[in-house]
Amino acid sequence: MASNRLCRAAVFALLFSGVCHGAGIIPVDWLRGTPGQSVTFVTSLTPTPTSEPFLALTWSFNTTTSVITSTNVDVVGEGYEGRITLDKTTGSLVLGNLTEEDSGEYELLVIPLAGQPILGHVKLEVLSVVSIPAMACPTENLLEGQSSLNLTCDAVGMVTNRAWKIKGKPLLPGGRFVFYDGGRVLSVSPVHRQDTGIFLCNVSNAVSFATAKCKLKVFYGPDEPFIDQDPVAAELEDSVTLLCSADSLPKAKFSWNFKHTVMSGPEHYIEEMRKRDLGKYTCTARNEITGLEVSAVHTLRDSCAPVRISVVVCAVLTSLGLMLS
Ligand SMILES: *[C@@H]1O[C@H](CO)[C@@H](O)[C@H](O)[C@H]1NC(C)=O
Ligand SMILES: *[C@@H]1O[C@H](CO)[C@@H](O)[C@H](O)[C@H]1NC(C)=O
Ligand SMILES: *[C@@H]1O[C@H](CO)[C@@H](O)[C@H](O)[C@H]1NC(C)=O
Ligand SMILES: *[C@@H]1O[C@H](CO)[C@@H](O)[C@H](O)[C@H]1NC(C)=O
Repeated sequence: MASNRLCRAAVFALLFSGVCHGAGIIPVDWLRGTPGQSVTFVTSLTPTPTSEPFLALTWSFNTTTSVITSTNVDVVGEGYEGRITLDKTTGSLVLGNLTEEDSGEYELLVIPLAGQPILGHVKLEVLSVVSIPAMACPTENLLEGQSSLNLTCDAVGMVTNRAWKIKGKPLLPGGRFVFYDGGRVLSVSPVHRQDTGIFLCNVSNAVSFATAKCKLKVFYGPDEPFIDQDPVAAELEDSVTLLCSADSLPKAKFSWNFKHTVMSGPEHYIEEMRKRDLGKYTCTARNEITGLEVSAVHTLRDSCAPVRISVVVCAVLTSLGLMLS
C-alpha cells in the first residue's frame, strides 16, 4: 500500500505518535542558499506508480506563511508565484530566486490517501556573498610617533565575521591598536615603524569571504648616529676614515662639522692625519620627511699621544692649581 511505503522511513515515529515526524521525510536539518539562486528541499519519500499518491501536500514557511497547498488543485502562496516547483510524487520542492527573507523554517505536511499525516522540517539560511570591502588607504605621509590613522573596512552583504591582519599575523586590539564599530574601523595611534607592511581586513560569512588591504609605510628617524673610525687607532700621517650611520626611513642625509667647516656625506676621509685634524667631529643625520635632525660627536685622537696629552693636561691643571692657591 502507498501509505505504508510513504511512512516506511518513519515507522518508529508512527508507533509513538499520531504523525510521522521527522528525520525520515526530509533527510537534512538545514540548507543554505545564496540570493538569486535556487534551493531544493528533497524528501526521502519515494515516487509511487500512481501519479497522485497524496490526498494533500502542504509546504509552509515560518509556520504561518503558506508556500503551496496541493490537493486536487494547487494553491500557491503570495510571493511564491513563478519561483516554486513541486514534485507531487515525492513532495520535494524547488524554491528559486532566493532572497535573504526566505531564511527561516520550512515545514512539509503530507496527508496520504490512507494512514497518518507525515510532517517534516528543514531550516534554510540564505546568505549573500560578501563583497570585496572598500578600504581607503592613507595617502599622506605617516610619521612615527606623530601620525594616527583610521582604516575602515566596509563590505556589502551579511558580514558575520571580521578579522584584521598585519604582515600576515592576526592583529589584536590593545596598545596603539583600537577597534571601533564591531571591528569595522581600526585605529592606529600613533603609528610606529613596525607598522610598515600590509594591513589586511577579512570579512566573511558562512558562504564567502573577501579581503582588502593597505600597504603602509611609516617614516621614522633618524635614530642616534653611530660613528665608526677606521682604523680605530690612528697615528699622525695615517689615513683615517670616519663613517657615520643612522637608522632612518627614508635614508638620512649626513653632514660632518669640524672646526666650523661643514662637509656633506656620511664619510669623512683624511688622507694623512695631521695635528690640525685632531679634535671633535660632529656628525648630523637629517631625515627630509620627518624633518628630524640628530647629531653625535666623535673625537679623533693621535693614538701615540696619550702620554703627551696627559702631560699637557697635567701642566694645565698644575698651572690652574698654582693660580688658584
Ligand atoms: C526574481 O527576482 C527579481 C528581482 O527581485 C525579479 O525581477 C524577478 O521577476 C524574479 N523572478 C521570479 C521568477 O520571481
Ligand atoms: C522566519 O523565522 C526566522 C527564525 O526562525 C526569522 O529569523 C525570520 O526573520 C523569519 N522570517 C520572516 C520573513 O518572518
Ligand atoms: C579615528 O576614529 C576615532 C573614532 O571614531 C576618532 O576618535 C579618531 O579621532 C579618528 N582618528 C583619526 C586619525 O581620524
Ligand atoms: C578570511 O576568512 C576566511 C573565513 O574565516 C578564511 O577562510 C580565509 O583564509 C581568510 N583569509 C585571509 C587572507 O585571512
